[in-house]
Amino acid sequence: MKEVVVVDLITTVKFFLLDVDKPQDDRMLASCQVTDWEQLGGWVQLVHVNPNCRRQGYGRLLLQEMLAYAREADKTGLGLAVRKHNKAAYQLYKSLGFVGCYVHGQDIIMTIHLGHQEGGQGSG
Ligand SMILES: CC(C)(COP(=O)(O)OP(=O)(O)OC[C@H]1O[C@@H](n2cnc3c(N)ncnc32)[C@H](O)[C@@H]1OP(=O)(O)O)[C@@H](O)C(=O)NCCC(=O)NCCS
Repeated sequence: MKEVVVVDLITTVKFFLLDVDKPQDDRMLASCQVTDWEQLGGWVQLVHVNPNCRRQGYGRLLLQEMLAYAREADKTGLGLAVRKHNKAAYQLYKSLGFVGCYVHGQDIIMTIHLGHQEGGQGSG
């Protein structure tokens, strides 16, 4: 089972990463960051899975671990923006419990409340 590593980039930004097993491969498997960590809420950014490793559940694993970490830290909710055309990311976020709030240009703004479990069990 791969583990998510959490790195404090600066006090306001947490960086979450899944590393590759192969030492010769210096690319990360998957990563994202949450900004405004010092606030009750936070903003998820730069969600990315290595193109060679997509559709293997790593994006879901990374974000599930990030959400669990955020809940543990008593954060009340998180937000993010996803491009309208990015069906893969939108479906992933939706399956984890993120809900679209409004559309801003080409972006859908999504939020999740962390006070209680919402979704995250199925594939949406
Ligand atoms: C979006 C992204 C993070 C998904 O990562 P991933 O590891 O491939 O996703 P997973 O294998 O964990 O899949 C989880 C769910 O996402 C959705 N999904 C992922 N890839 C998909 C695709 N190509 N088409 C449709 N749905 C997809 C599915 O709902 C999937 O659940 P399922 O496998 O049960 O059907 C990855 O494609 C990526 O890095 N894309 C480029 C960067 C990007 O767009 N980041 C998001 C910016 S908002």
